[in-house]
Amino acid sequence: MQLAIVIMAGGKGTRLKSKRAKVLHEIGGKALLRHVIASASQIVAPQDIYVVVGHQAALVEAAVKNTGVRFIHQEEQRGTGHAIQTAKSAVRDYQQLLVLSGDVPLLKSETIARLRNFHIDQRAAMSVLTAAPADPNGYGRVLRKKPDSPEVKAIVEQKALTPEQRSVREINSGIYAFKTEPLFTHISELKTDNAHGEYYLTDMAGHLVTAGERVVALEAATATEVLGANTIAEMMDLDRELRLETARKLMAQGVTILHPETTVIDADVEIGADTVIEPFVQLLGETKIGEDCRIRSYSIIENSTLADGVLVRQGSTIVNSRVATKAEIGPYSHLRPESEIGEGAHVGNFVETKKVKIGKGSKANHLSYLGNSEIGSGVNVGAGTITCNYDGVSKHLTVIGDGVFVGSDSTLVAPVVIGEGAYIAAGSTITEDVPANALALGRARQTTKPDWVKNRRAQASKAKQP
Ligand code: UD1
Ligand code: CA
Repeated sequence: MQLAIVIMAGGKGTRLKSKRAKVLHEIGGKALLRHVIASASQIVAPQDIYVVVGHQAALVEAAVKNTGVRFIHQEEQRGTGHAIQTAKSAVRDYQQLLVLSGDVPLLKSETIARLRNFHIDQRAAMSVLTAAPADPNGYGRVLRKKPDSPEVKAIVEQKALTPEQRSVREINSGIYAFKTEPLFTHISELKTDNAHGEYYLTDMAGHLVTAGERVVALEAATATEVLGANTIAEMMDLDRELRLETARKLMAQGVTILHPETTVIDADVEIGADTVIEPFVQLLGETKIGEDCRIRSYSIIENSTLADGVLVRQGSTIVNSRVATKAEIGPYSHLRPESEIGEGAHVGNFVETKKVKIGKGSKANHLSYLGNSEIGSGVNVGAGTITCNYDGVSKHLTVIGDGVFVGSDSTLVAPVVIGEGAYIAAGSTITEDVPANALALGRARQTTKPDWVKNRRAQASKAKQP
């Protein structure tokens, strides 16, 4: 048993002023803790990752269970030192421990590996990852024995800094490597005589130095990577950082993102070359977009797959759906879950779809609701067509064959089948199946009364005369 990673994620996150546990807050569309677990998983196997949970433990566990990590329960959250003390029985047999914070989400696995290697090379009992951000306020400071020495004297929390220590710019990132044996030999020396009345893991530096152990510091390549997320504002700073990084990565792959600072693109989104993303677009979750697409402004696409050459016009929403190559969506279309739009199909203005298959080249260009339907290829769905899929108790299927023409403002009462090549007259309410190539009319015949208006006006003016 060589190396384990402990992720401290038990704290409440008081400074967030939120009901939700801090590590479940999201940046880049993913919980803070998930980001940390993803980086940690690049270093050791999931069964060697131990997440300390406490506040809202059940919710935190449920949110990351599928990663295969293990959990340690810190019933009462009495500080970072206490979190590691709680982990003792689970991890004491490993030779080395890496300790990460669940609220430092931008940390890269390369940096974790660098800290591990440095720690081993230095034969240290404790190694701390540091940084020198523009604003060190709020962080613990790392006091080195000499400015250019890797050796650390102590870590001092913000609230305990003396006036001259306040000028120290090197901060503690909350990321450490420990040799397990000296850590657990001395961890019981931690005390709670500090501003928060907590057991500070940072105090281990001083205790180990006093015991004659070697404590060293390694500065991270960039400060951004180790920034913590203690407040919503800090979290949104990290969110912006992460999304810009995602945008830069996509642009390097040939994607054009206009005004990337206005887009919201989640960390796992994939986009093909020569696709253009206009300003104020949101691409969320596991969305995949092919090559040569254009996504116009104010569209939101979530957990959906778009093939090559798709055009999404402005203001469209696409959720859990699939769109085939060269299809055109919008403006202002709403594709709800399980919509499958076929090759070259058009779904236009104010068309809502839900659990529907629309075949190759079919068009529903205006003001429709299409739900629980199988629509063939080459179908023309007229403006205002509604599939009445719900009878107040359950949902029913509408099947529309290839080449059908549905006249405007028709209501198709499901379950109903419209055979291939049939015509539905405009304004029809269709309650019975229509055979292939038939014309179905489902509305009252028009009656016209000549001069009706003229006669009525004449009657009215006669009644007014004295
Ligand atoms: C900590 C460091 C500080 C460092 C900063 C970097 C201490 C005392 N201070 O401060 O020097 O600059 O991180 O981001 O460690 N947690 C538990 N159980 C607890 C308390 C906390 O699991 O009882 C977890 C939290 O959920 C969090 C992490 O430990 O993920 C750090 O705790 P937090 O309270 O955010 O520490 P900071 O005040 O940021
Ligand atoms: Ca923190």
